[in-house]
Amino acid sequence: MELCRATLSWTNSFAPVFHIPQYTQVNGCKKFRFLCMNSDNESTGSQSNQMIVSITGGTGFVGRRLVQRLISDKHSVRVLTRSRAKAQSVFPVRNFPGLIIAEESEWGKCIQGSDAVVNLAGMPISTRWSPEIKREIKQSRIKATSKVVDLINQSEDDVRPSVLVSATAVGYYGTSETQVFDETSPSGNDYLAEVCREWEGRALKVNKDVRLVLIRIGVVLGKDGGALAKMIPLFMMFAGGPLGSGKQWFSWIHVDDLVNLIYESLSNPSYRGVINGTAPNPVRLAEMCEHLGEVMGRPSWLPVPDFALKAVLGEGATIVLDGQRVLPKRAKELGFSFRYPYVKDALKSIMSTVKLSPSRF
Ligand SMILES: NC(=O)c1ccc[n+]([C@@H]2O[C@H](COP(=O)([O-])OP(=O)(O)OC[C@H]3O[C@@H](n4cnc5c(N)ncnc54)[C@H](OP(=O)(O)O)[C@@H]3O)[C@@H](O)[C@H]2O)c1
Repeated sequence: MELCRATLSWTNSFAPVFHIPQYTQVNGCKKFRFLCMNSDNESTGSQSNQMIVSITGGTGFVGRRLVQRLISDKHSVRVLTRSRAKAQSVFPVRNFPGLIIAEESEWGKCIQGSDAVVNLAGMPISTRWSPEIKREIKQSRIKATSKVVDLINQSEDDVRPSVLVSATAVGYYGTSETQVFDETSPSGNDYLAEVCREWEGRALKVNKDVRLVLIRIGVVLGKDGGALAKMIPLFMMFAGGPLGSGKQWFSWIHVDDLVNLIYESLSNPSYRGVINGTAPNPVRLAEMCEHLGEVMGRPSWLPVPDFALKAVLGEGATIVLDGQRVLPKRAKELGFSFRYPYVKDALKSIMSTVKLSPSRF
């Protein structure tokens, strides 16, 4: 009979860790591997494919989906938040047992011992842009990214995460109705381009042994947040024609494809550097609106006025009203498979889960 002994030790996590020997038979040889569980029931990722992932902005539109996806694949997740109460309401313990929620003073402990960090934090840009808010939009990203990078860099070698996936945006390229942008294109010269350059600049300060993936995200489509959730009521109120001139480019990505891209970036060492997080077929805004009108059963002949969009998105409407055509060259080279390459299919799938009640608008 094999003798099994569970050992107990402290790691830089918050709870004692039990190393539970697991017996396996490989090529006729008896082998042990250690499945590590702490007392919060958090697997510590010593099993081959399991990761411990710390996520800033995990309570947001994209973050929530990513957390759910990682947990459903049995990875351990640590949500790094500014507000425990908010995170607990997003991730109630009955549905997310074992999820660790950490406020800022505990981020360091969480990051040490994580296999990977995903940085999604930042103040929403779909607001009115007063000078103070513009400063906050930029500073919130710079501050969160600097903090994460400093904490990674301060970690001892043996507990330092090996990968940082950090969000940035296609706003990096500036706007154009005629140019096509890929990861090698230069940055633009408007406010959002400046925000993205500085945001990325902070992430680039991460220790050179850490694999860094910078995802330049396009307009994320999903029912639970982002620009689409705000556009749907406008389409109900107006007939649902193009926004603005309709000629602007709309570089979009389905939230599930973005989550898959982040997931792949965590686990696949070939993913490094800048990767555009956009679908392979950006559309002009008129086409996007036509499809949206179609899947919503609204005729598409009456343009939604700019002022209406600005009323709901604030100056952040510029991401929709002044677009850019961005192609996911790197993701394609890496063989990433988009579940939703065409906007019509993405919208159909999203709208099939949205309950429309015109009386609300
Ligand atoms: N959604 C898009 O279409 C899109 C497009 C391009 C780029 N991106 C980028 O991708 C990332 C994730 O997007 P998202 O749509 O999921 O964002 P989101 O829903 O707005 O969530 C971002 C998270 O950031 C944290 N946050 C909010 N205000 C903050 C502030 N003032 N300072 C520090 N942290 C703050 C919040 O987490 P806690 O409250 O838990 O701290 C929040 O849950 C963001 O950085 C965003 O700029 C998104």
